[in-house]
Amino acid sequence: MGKILVTGGLGFIGSHTVVELQNKGFEVVIIDNLSNSSLSVLDGITAISGKKPEFENFDLKDKNLVQNFFGKHQDIQGIIHFAASKAVGESVEEPLLYYENNINTLIYLLQEFKSFEASNFIFSSSCTVYGEPDQLPINENAPIKPAISPYGNTKQIGEEIIRDVCKVSENLNAISLRYFNPIGAHETALIGELPLGAPQNLVPFITQTAIGKRNQLSVFGDDYPTPDGTCIRDYIHVVDLAKAHVIALTRLLEKNNKSNFEVFNLGTGIGSSVLDAIKSFERASGEKLNYKIAERRVGDVVSVFADTKKANLELGWTSKLTLDDAMRSTWKWEQKISKS
Ligand code: WQD
Repeated sequence: MGKILVTGGLGFIGSHTVVELQNKGFEVVIIDNLSNSSLSVLDGITAISGKKPEFENFDLKDKNLVQNFFGKHQDIQGIIHFAASKAVGESVEEPLLYYENNINTLIYLLQEFKSFEASNFIFSSSCTVYGEPDQLPINENAPIKPAISPYGNTKQIGEEIIRDVCKVSENLNAISLRYFNPIGAHETALIGELPLGAPQNLVPFITQTAIGKRNQLSVFGDDYPTPDGTCIRDYIHVVDLAKAHVIALTRLLEKNNKSNFEVFNLGTGIGSSVLDAIKSFERASGEKLNYKIAERRVGDVVSVFADTKKANLELGWTSKLTLDDAMRSTWKWEQKISKS
């Protein structure tokens, strides 16, 4: 079994995926520039899976370093490409940072990898490419709307780049995985989400409020056209998400894909409101959460959740962990990192 490159493999979803890859016997090499992670994650991965993945600390924006890397690693059979900037709000403030970091790096990777004999590529994409959907649940044929943020645009452009390269390169086979809202942590609490600075996303803000790092959670609007007035999302446990990556990669390695570029939505198929998420956290943690209703956040879509039939039927994958499982695991993780 050849080596698998995981870019951003010390990040939130990347680290959980490296664990699942190693649990399945894959040999993994990670490239991470540590801009949004820390070396301690490598220890967590090693402690859980009993194996320390190879790790190279450099920035994929450096084209020469990318070329040198592939010169040294001719035995790579697959790439799972997580490394990217992913804060929606920040991308509005710093668009060039996002286009350089999320697009140039993808181009440099493909320039080197597309000519490899076994060129199997998994792209980390997002439901954000759908924008505000016309119908729910969202399936993979839903129209791609004009991006609401530069971050979302980099995911749309990334998929188009890969699709076009697959058309002209007989070796390259790719799958784009469109995540809904990844949450949770590994049950061992040895790896989890490590937001740097004030968390942008709901669930880390919930746990940091409960642990006392934040005073109060603001619920961004309760006057939306939803049952309880708050926005609806499809919160998927990061371990379920990680397992889907291993299944998708195996599909490519075993040449079971129907075409050389496929897209799959990865969600639970269940829509949960912000207040549902808060209630789930309170149930799972036994903590009462301090929150208030605040103004709407610009750019929020009202409701998104996945039609998971394609991933269920064609990948043979379905999410197994519940919202409460995710809240229990992320609370255990928050308590652990707040102690250390
Ligand atoms: C979820 C809900 C907020 C914080 C984004 C990206 C997506 C993916 C996940 C990278 C919304 C509400 C949040 C808070 C709140 N990112 N909220 N108070 O915006 O659905 O998705 O992150 O892959 O691509 O678009 O996630 O967690 O920020 O928000 O009320 O302090 O929680 O309004 O309704 P989002 P989120």
